[in-house]
Amino acid sequence: MQAQLTALVNEAESAAPSVATRPDFDAFKARLVGPNGGLTAAMKAMGSVPKEDKPAMGKLLNATKVRLEEVLAATLARVEDAEIAAKLGPAIDVTLPVTDDAEGLTHPLTQTRERIVGVFRKLGFTVADGPEIESEWTCFDALGTPPDHPARDMQDTLYMPKSFRSPDSPRRADEELCLRTHTSSVQIRTMLAAVATQARTGALPPVRIVAPGRCFRRDTVDATHSANFHQIEGLWVGENVTLRDLKSVLDAFVKEMFGSKAQIRFRPSYFPFTEPSFEMDIKVPDMGRLSDRWLEIMGCGLVDPKVFANVGIDADKYTGLAFGLGVERIAMLQHGIDDIRHFYANDLRFLRQFA
Ligand code: DAH
Repeated sequence: MQAQLTALVNEAESAAPSVATRPDFDAFKARLVGPNGGLTAAMKAMGSVPKEDKPAMGKLLNATKVRLEEVLAATLARVEDAEIAAKLGPAIDVTLPVTDDAEGLTHPLTQTRERIVGVFRKLGFTVADGPEIESEWTCFDALGTPPDHPARDMQDTLYMPKSFRSPDSPRRADEELCLRTHTSSVQIRTMLAAVATQARTGALPPVRIVAPGRCFRRDTVDATHSANFHQIEGLWVGENVTLRDLKSVLDAFVKEMFGSKAQIRFRPSYFPFTEPSFEMDIKVPDMGRLSDRWLEIMGCGLVDPKVFANVGIDADKYTGLAFGLGVERIAMLQHGIDDIRHFYANDLRFLRQFA
C-alpha cells in the first residue's frame, strides 16, 4: 500500500504540468481523488492492512491526501489564469491612454507667432508664405537694395553654392541664391503673384498679408543675436492705403498683444523699400522691469514707389504699407526672457514653463 500511495503522488506531480484546460483538469482530479480514483482505492485498501500497521498507514494516507490537494490547487490556479488571459486577449492594450507625462507642448516661439498672426487675421490680413532659400533679386534688388547699396552690408548674407538652383525662382536662371535675411522677400513674391492675376483678370486682387518665417544672417550669436531667427512681415497694398492705416493697424495690433494701455511711437528711420520709413516703439505700463520704457519692436513704412516699379504695380494708382517684426523679440518682451539662446537650447526646464 505504501508503494501504491507513493506511485499516486508521483503520477500526480508528473502529469500536472500537461493539464492545460478545464476538461483536462476535471479528468485529472477524478483520476486522483474521484470515487473511482487512486486515493479512494487506497482508502478502501486500508481495511486489509494489519491492525498494528494501521496508525502508520493512516498517517501516510493523510499526507498523501494533503499533497494531492496541493497539486490540484496549484494546477487549478494555473488553468484559471490561462482562461482569464485568453479572455483578455493580448497583454498590451494599445487603445489605453499613455500613463507617463511625455505629452508635447507648443514651442514658445510658435505660440508667439500664432498669437501675432491671430491678431493680424482679425484685422483682415491673410497669411502668405515664401521660401527660405531665396533669389538675391527677390531678397535685395527688388526691395531697393542693388549690389552696391550700403544697406546690403548690414545683412551680410549666406549664399548658396552656384550648383544649387531654386526650382521656383521668379527671376533668371543664373541669379545668385541666398538664405533669406528677412521676410521682406515675401512682399515681392506676393506682389508678383498679384500682378500676374491682374494680367489675367484686369484687376489687382487685394494684397493684405502677413508672412511669418525663418530668416538667416551671418551674425555672431549672443544674448540678443542669432544667426537663425524668425520674423513676421506685413504688407497691405490698395488704392488708398495711407500712413493713417499704418498707424491704426499697428496700434490695434499692439493693444491686442500688450493690453489696451500700451502706447506706440513712430521714429523716422531708413529702409531701402519704404518711404517714409519708421521704427516703431511701444510703452507698456505693466511689463516688469521693462514697464514704462520705450522699446523698439519693429520697422515699418509706406511702400517705396520704386519697389512697385520693380514688380510692375502702377505707383500712381496704388499705395501700400509694410512692416516687419521679430518673433523672438516679441516673445522675449512678453515673457521677460533675457537671452535669445534659450529658444534654441531645447532645455525642457525652459520649455515646460510655456505648457
Ligand atoms: N526687413 C527689415 C529687417 O529685417 C524689417 C522691416 C522694416 C520690414 C520695415 C518692413 C518694413 O516691411 O517696412 O530689418
